Amino acid sequence: MANGRPPVLDVDRLIDDRRNRILVCCGSGGVGKTTTAAAIGLRAAERGRHVVVLTVDPARRLAQSMGLTSLDNTPRLVAGVGGNGSAGAGSLHAMMLDMKRTFDEIVEAHADPDRAAQILANPFYQSLSSSFAGTQEYMAMEKLGQLRRAEEWDLIVVDTPPSRSALDFLDAPQRLARFLDGRLLRLLVVPAKAGGRAYLRVINAGFGMVTGVLTKVLGTQMLRDVQTFVSALDTMFGGFRERADYTYQLLRAPGTEFLVVAAPEPDALREASYFVERLAEERMPLAGLILNRVQRPPAAQLSAARSLAAAEMLEASTAPSPGGSPALAVAALRLHADRMQEAAAQRRVSEHFTAAHPLVPVAEVPALPDDIHDLDGLRRIGEAFGPVPEMRAPQ
Ligand SMILES: Nc1ncnc2c1ncn2[C@@H]1O[C@H](COP(=O)(O)OP(=O)(O)OP(=O)(O)O)[C@@H](O)[C@H]1O
Ligand SMILES: [Mg+2]
Repeated sequence: MANGRPPVLDVDRLIDDRRNRILVCCGSGGVGKTTTAAAIGLRAAERGRHVVVLTVDPARRLAQSMGLTSLDNTPRLVAGVGGNGSAGAGSLHAMMLDMKRTFDEIVEAHADPDRAAQILANPFYQSLSSSFAGTQEYMAMEKLGQLRRAEEWDLIVVDTPPSRSALDFLDAPQRLARFLDGRLLRLLVVPAKAGGRAYLRVINAGFGMVTGVLTKVLGTQMLRDVQTFVSALDTMFGGFRERADYTYQLLRAPGTEFLVVAAPEPDALREASYFVERLAEERMPLAGLILNRVQRPPAAQLSAARSLAAAEMLEASTAPSPGGSPALAVAALRLHADRMQEAAAQRRVSEHFTAAHPLVPVAEVPALPDDIHDLDGLRRIGEAFGPVPEMRAPQ
C-alpha cells in the first residue's frame, strides 16, 4: 500500500485466470451485486471464457436485455455477446434463480413420486419454499452446486440475494438446513407418527406444552401441515445439511474467489468490513472489494470551495452577462461543488475501510449517470475492470 491507498484489484486478471471457476459477488442490499455479477460475466465471456451468470432478482429491464424473460431456472445463451458461438470465442449464459422451483426440484429428486406430490401440495411446504427467510440463500447455493457439477461452463459468476446483510449469504443456508434437519421438526413429527399411548407419554414428558404453544402460534391446521410435511420429508433428513455443507466446501475450494461489492457509503462499507473479516475467519478467499458508484466529477481540478466562490461572485455580480443567463452557470457551479463534496465524503469513508483492511485490493466503478439496463451499460461498468487509469481525484 503506497501513500494510504489500497492495492488495486485487477478484475481482468482475475477473470483471465483459468484456475478461477467461481466468482461470488456479495454485499449488502442495493449496492450493485447483480449489476457487478452481470458485468463481470459479460466481460469474461468477451475475453474468451465460457461463463454462466446466476442472477437473483435482476431488475426487469436488465433481465430482458440478457434474454431472461421467464423464470424457468435454466441458463440461457445471451444474444449479442461478442464472439458468442464462434470457434475459440467465449460465451455467456445467464439465468435467474427461481427459489421455489429449485426447492421443488430437490424434493422431486429425493422423494418417491407419491411423497414428492404430497410434499409439494403441503401448505407449510409451499410457504417455506417461497417465503421462509434464508430459502433464497439456500437455493442460490444449491443452484451453484448444480451448475458446478454440470461442468458445462468454465466460469460461474454468482450474484447473491438482496439480504440486508452480506453475511446472510453464508449463514442463511446453514440456518435453513439446521431447521429442516433439526430437532424441533423431528420433535413435531413425533405425535403424528406415534399416536395413541405413545403420544400421551410424550405429552406427559412435557411435549404437550411445546405443541400447545406452537398450536397457539401456528394454529392447529398449520401445525398439522408441518407435521405431515415433516413426516413426508423424513427420507430427506440429513440431506439438507449435507447439501449445504457441500456447497459451503465449494466456496472454500481452490478456484473460488469472493468479491465484496459496496457503495462508498458508511453502512455498505461497514457491512463489507464484517464480511471481509468473516471470510478471513472461514478461510474463504477474498479477491477484493468492488467499490461501486464512485462519484468522479469532471473538472476535478476545480475545488468545491472555488466553485462555490465563483457561483457566489456571479450571483452578486450586476454586470450584464455576455454569455446569456448567469443562472445556468451558477447552477452548474453549485452542482459541481456538490459533486466534489460528495466525492470527498466518499473518499473519506473508503479511506476508513482501507485503514482497517490495508491489504484488501480495491477496484472502483464510477457512478454512471443512468441505471444499467442493457449490455452496453454492463460493458461500460466492465471498462472499470480494464487497465486501471488514475481514478482518484486529487485531494
Ligand atoms: N455504477 C453504477 N452506476 C449507475 N447505476 C448503477 C451502478 N451500479 C448499479 N446501478 C444501479 O443501481 C441499482 C441497484 O443495482 P443492483 O440491482 O445491481 O444492486 P443489488 O446489490 O443487486 O441490489 P439487491 O440487493 O436489491 O439485489 C440498479 O438500478 C442499477 O442499475
Ligand atoms: Mg440484486
